Amino acid sequence: MSNYNFDKAINRFKTDSIRWDQYDSSVIPLWVADMDFESPPCVLNAMKNRVKHGIFGYTHAPNNFKENIADYVKKHYDWEVDTDWIVVIPSIVSALYSIGISCTKSTSHIITPQPIYHHLKLAAAESGRNYNEARLETIANRQILSPESINKVIKKNSELLYFCNPHNPGGTVYTKNELVQIVDFCNENNLLICSDEIHCGMVLDGHKHIPIASISEAAANRTITLMSLNKTFNFPGAGLGWMICKNPRLRKIASHKIGSLIPHPEIFGYVATDAAIKNGEDWRLALLDYLSQNRNLLMERINQIPGLRIYDIEASYLGWISCENLPAKNPHQLFLNHGVAVQPGHMFNQPNHIRINIATTHSLLKKALDRIEKAVKSI
Ligand SMILES: Cc1ncc(COP(=O)(O)O)c(C=O)c1O
Repeated sequence: MSNYNFDKAINRFKTDSIRWDQYDSSVIPLWVADMDFESPPCVLNAMKNRVKHGIFGYTHAPNNFKENIADYVKKHYDWEVDTDWIVVIPSIVSALYSIGISCTKSTSHIITPQPIYHHLKLAAAESGRNYNEARLETIANRQILSPESINKVIKKNSELLYFCNPHNPGGTVYTKNELVQIVDFCNENNLLICSDEIHCGMVLDGHKHIPIASISEAAANRTITLMSLNKTFNFPGAGLGWMICKNPRLRKIASHKIGSLIPHPEIFGYVATDAAIKNGEDWRLALLDYLSQNRNLLMERINQIPGLRIYDIEASYLGWISCENLPAKNPHQLFLNHGVAVQPGHMFNQPNHIRINIATTHSLLKKALDRIEKAVKSI
């Protein structure tokens, strides 16, 4: 029995939640990636204590912040990083965009996976560089980026690969062997890697997150890793993350815009992250258990619905569902008409798919799955 009550239904309507305020209250919103669970008590208490002080001036990092991040990364991912390699940032998304511009020449070419969390594609598109999307391969019901898929789109002037592990959408957790192959390819083709690992704190049963930069010295020297506890501990509205980059030259250019175009993190990002690092582990393990149960329920139910097919979810809470065999032109609209808002596949350049966020109570997820089943039956 968990000490935390993830079944507690908290009304999020009219709380200025992007996810919950978009539709009327008859719709179950399972689109934007945040969770319907309270942050851990350690985070809530730290926030409350900070609010009690009543003054929210310009704020620097808490004592030993980078040391604590380095210890966390060592403990969880067996990766020894120097505090000098760490650069604290307010958001992963802004780093994705600034890295595309700062770390490549204007004449360079960028490669980004497809399907992918839309900001990895937009960061490539808005860099002003030419870019191509490398299609993920489906192997044993897992979607992975392989050297072959990158090779299909690589150009002579390719300089940067955007990479996402665990992957969004879908939640593939790359194995060591898969990462080694990507690193070898990037070494051979002199590609920098910008690795978005924001979902790494929610790796489910039996899988293990391996930061791509930890694969080898060569990988560390060409990689900028992006991590954050926002997702895992559910405070993305109080954002904070960090880059890890061993290569001092690369680190300098990757962090060029921090403190100017990219602001430093705000006070509650520091407070929440500091508390979660120090005291959040018990809650995180309970969360993983709850999410695994939702994942099992989702897989079981979706696989019974004709026309739908779901890829394996090895991490996090974002299921990627193929509707290719569903006789419906717009699956997102079909499900919305039946009271469930999922993320439309066109956000990931695959309109015949949908992404579903299962970070909600078991009972709300069951209700949403009943509606999805009914929607398909109605065709
Ligand atoms: C892969 C990925 N990267 C980044 C983000 C957002 O990061 P941030 O809120 O720190 O900008 C998300 C949010 O869903 C995500 O899924």
